[in-house]
Amino acid sequence: MRTVHIGLAGFGTVGSAVFRNLQSNAELLARRCGMRPEIVAIAAKNLSSRAGGAERAAARLLVRDLDVLVADSRVELIVELIGGCGVARRLILSSLRAGKPVVTANKALLAEHGREIFIESRRHGAPVWFEASVAGGIPLIQALREGLVANRFRLLYGIVNGTCNYILSRMTLEGAGFEEALREAQAQGFAEADPTFDIDGYDAAHKATVLASLVAGGCVNFRKVPVEGIRHITVEDIRFAQRLGYALKLLAIIRSLGPNHVEVRVHPTLIPVTNRLASIHGVTNAVMVRGSVVGDVEFSGPGAGGDATSSAVISDLMEAARHVVLQKERVKGAPLPQPPSAVGSVASRVAPAESIVSRYYLRLGVLDRPGVLARIASILGAAKIGISSVLQPEGHEGRVVPLILMTHDARHGAMLGALARIRRLPVVKSRPVVLRVETFES
Ligand code: HSE
Repeated sequence: MRTVHIGLAGFGTVGSAVFRNLQSNAELLARRCGMRPEIVAIAAKNLSSRAGGAERAAARLLVRDLDVLVADSRVELIVELIGGCGVARRLILSSLRAGKPVVTANKALLAEHGREIFIESRRHGAPVWFEASVAGGIPLIQALREGLVANRFRLLYGIVNGTCNYILSRMTLEGAGFEEALREAQAQGFAEADPTFDIDGYDAAHKATVLASLVAGGCVNFRKVPVEGIRHITVEDIRFAQRLGYALKLLAIIRSLGPNHVEVRVHPTLIPVTNRLASIHGVTNAVMVRGSVVGDVEFSGPGAGGDATSSAVISDLMEAARHVVLQKERVKGAPLPQPPSAVGSVASRVAPAESIVSRYYLRLGVLDRPGVLARIASILGAAKIGISSVLQPEGHEGRVVPLILMTHDARHGAMLGALARIRRLPVVKSRPVVLRVETFES
């Protein structure tokens, strides 16, 4: 049976889980795939030969640096699990230039330098696999590229950051405070090294960029993706949303607007409690895809953590190994086998934030006086924003009371203009809370 030799870069939570799970499932993988994947060299910091178990075995494979890993003539493909856009980018580019296929879980790198990487991948006939970059252990990328290859994707939305979903779930179900829930998520090991990437929405936006590139068929520029995190979310707003029949989730939302043209955004979103994503709690990720042929398809599963992510990395690694074997055994001059529907290296257009249309939830702190609602309604009316419902809950003492307005569809630009006018009203006493509302009916 053919052994495929692998170079592994990075031995953190995911790298060590890949090493361990490859070893413990070696026979199963060989039986299922007819090949033996073997890690023959590892480049990693902080891998001590004194550590026990898998670490001691891995330490015997340590090489001096990333250049040695790429130059190692035994290494037929590279698995990059370092993360970030510095050395990881250089490693991937030099692997591709050496004609060595790459498996990566690096969503930040793909989102910020994807175009450069896919151009280089094409130029050198060395594919890049990236299943583990989005939604942890859910085989979502493979489904979009292969299982749903017959479809155009009209809409894709989902929960793609486990840390935020964990925090919002704890706030919703147990009334926990934001900081307390974040500390728990960090303790359980699924938050990013710098958790601001999670709570400010950047991790989800990196993943949304990767997914949007697949939906659009060409690379999306991460810098053009509007992002809003969950730092400002309070239990109070979650409770008001519940009274109105909604749950609050951090969502990535992608709509196809035509070939190489997409709307993509990440923000906290009110969704009807009847939507399936409303009952996805904890670190679980869930994504809904609306395909032109198949209709709506849902995916859910563990979105973070070493073992779950290693499952996705190993799946890619076996595909990459198959590619290596096919490539080496192909008849000279025959076309190179390519993975299906790879991301094109052309750039896709992204809809500007101001043009995006959605419904809104507004919570204002206002003086409880006659005429206040009328003044706010007239500003919204002048901006052609219709109000769909109003809630001024009883039981609030004092001069300032909460006023909650739900609107019909409005352009984001029009809403920003109206909000600027509303904030200037002397009767409005606190910064408005503004959240999008989505029903995904069309
Ligand atoms: N920090 C990420 C999350 C996991 O919480 O979903 C890795 O993508």
